[in-house]
Amino acid sequence: ELKDNTIVIVLGASGDLAKKKTYPALFGLYRQGFLPRDVKIVGYARTKMDEAEYYKRITSYIKVPEEEEAAAQLEEFKKLSTYVAGDYEDGAAFDNLNKHLEEIESHYQSKECNRLFYLALPPSVFIPVAKNLKEHCYVSKGGINRIIVEKPFGKDLESARELLGSLKQYWSEDETFRIDHYLGKEMVKNMLVLRFANVALGAAWDKNSISNVQITFKEPFGTEGRGGYFDEFGIIRDVLQNHLLQVLCILAMERPVSFSAEDIRDEKVKVLRAIPPIEQSDTLLGQYVAANGKPGYLDDDTVPHNSVCPTFAATTLWIHNPRWEGVPFILKAGKALNEAKVEVRIQFKDVTQGIFKDISRNELVLRIQPSEAVYLKLNTKTPGLYTRAIPTEMDLTYKRRFSDTKIPEAYEALILDALKGDHSNFVRHDELDHAWKIFTPILHWIEGKSGQRPRPVNYPYGSRGPKELDPFITKYGYKRSTEG
Ligand code: BG6
Repeated sequence: ELKDNTIVIVLGASGDLAKKKTYPALFGLYRQGFLPRDVKIVGYARTKMDEAEYYKRITSYIKVPEEEEAAAQLEEFKKLSTYVAGDYEDGAAFDNLNKHLEEIESHYQSKECNRLFYLALPPSVFIPVAKNLKEHCYVSKGGINRIIVEKPFGKDLESARELLGSLKQYWSEDETFRIDHYLGKEMVKNMLVLRFANVALGAAWDKNSISNVQITFKEPFGTEGRGGYFDEFGIIRDVLQNHLLQVLCILAMERPVSFSAEDIRDEKVKVLRAIPPIEQSDTLLGQYVAANGKPGYLDDDTVPHNSVCPTFAATTLWIHNPRWEGVPFILKAGKALNEAKVEVRIQFKDVTQGIFKDISRNELVLRIQPSEAVYLKLNTKTPGLYTRAIPTEMDLTYKRRFSDTKIPEAYEALILDALKGDHSNFVRHDELDHAWKIFTPILHWIEGKSGQRPRPVNYPYGSRGPKELDPFITKYGYKRSTEG
């Protein structure tokens, strides 16, 4: 339920995340009427700027829809927004922020005031900001305080535990909303419905019917300008350990007792606990090199010239439980590939031979982006006076089926959930802990903690990935369709 009299405070308001994601999502919610009554938005960051400059920054990524009223709504949205400049480590600066918040709240009718703090900040200031907010900006007179935080949550198990432990001193689990924005994506949210509201799919959802599962993330651009951050983290921490692993959990979990946040997250944690740490032999690492007129990873000035940081990784996870024993879950992600695409591909087993030969396997594809779609590859008799089966597709493309519906942005969905206090699509502390247990050994190996750093194989900018990828997937039983 939404609380009236809420202030959303965006810390890091002049940064990239805030201008690209947070403010556009807040505006999207505002114009669709989803923000609480009397909402106000306060930006906070170090940069000193006047209102005009602040408005310019926060609206620079907002695409004003064509509808007539949208431009007017943007003006209204600006009027709700104010800005306070201040340091992240300085208690007095947060007192100043608090004064500003109290001034706004003094105009509210009711005494209850609620504050949602959104930390769009680099990890180096997470802790001082969390502490200062608690000590200087926490409403204690009957309102609700919530804090939204974003990855990176540490670099490995140990550092994540340290970070979470420090944050816990100031903010309880109930007040904390850890974003993994993949959980806000429409198709990811659809997965629970597809699985548990369809007998036909549910019945085939296990090792008896499924041969292998691939969860794929492809981006057509490199680290352009973000090389400094990226080189420290690599593709595994950037995408696999969080976004793709969360998708895996939802695909693999047992049916939750209810849709409550704890019931859902309990089931996800059980999946994570059944996955052992990733083996080196189940991992393929790549790095892009210059091609098609585009620079290689090492040509990026912000990247050390001899970096062996992977910009591509494929790795296979195994879930040791009765439903999934022996079914490989292949996660793969890469930068600077041939296309932008995120999808899940569930490949079913071979049909019994005999009356059929060389027949393709069924595949269920859940396309997360772009252009959300669910399609099932089915073998069908070609129409005609003979019997020949060919692979065809049962296709549910959202643009066609739900043509009048606007698909919400992930950040819109998640900010709305946080405003309502619904944790279902946020990452619980123990999920994070288990996620790090699975990935920490392989990350330490890649970083040379146990000897020489492994060298990733090369792949050309704009290609499908390393040439080693096809044999890698085949090794885990994936079979290409014979046709179609
Ligand atoms: C972020 C990663 O978490 O997700 C980026 O840090 C990546 O490197 C991005 O580009 C992808 O998000 P989306 O929503 O564009 O798929």
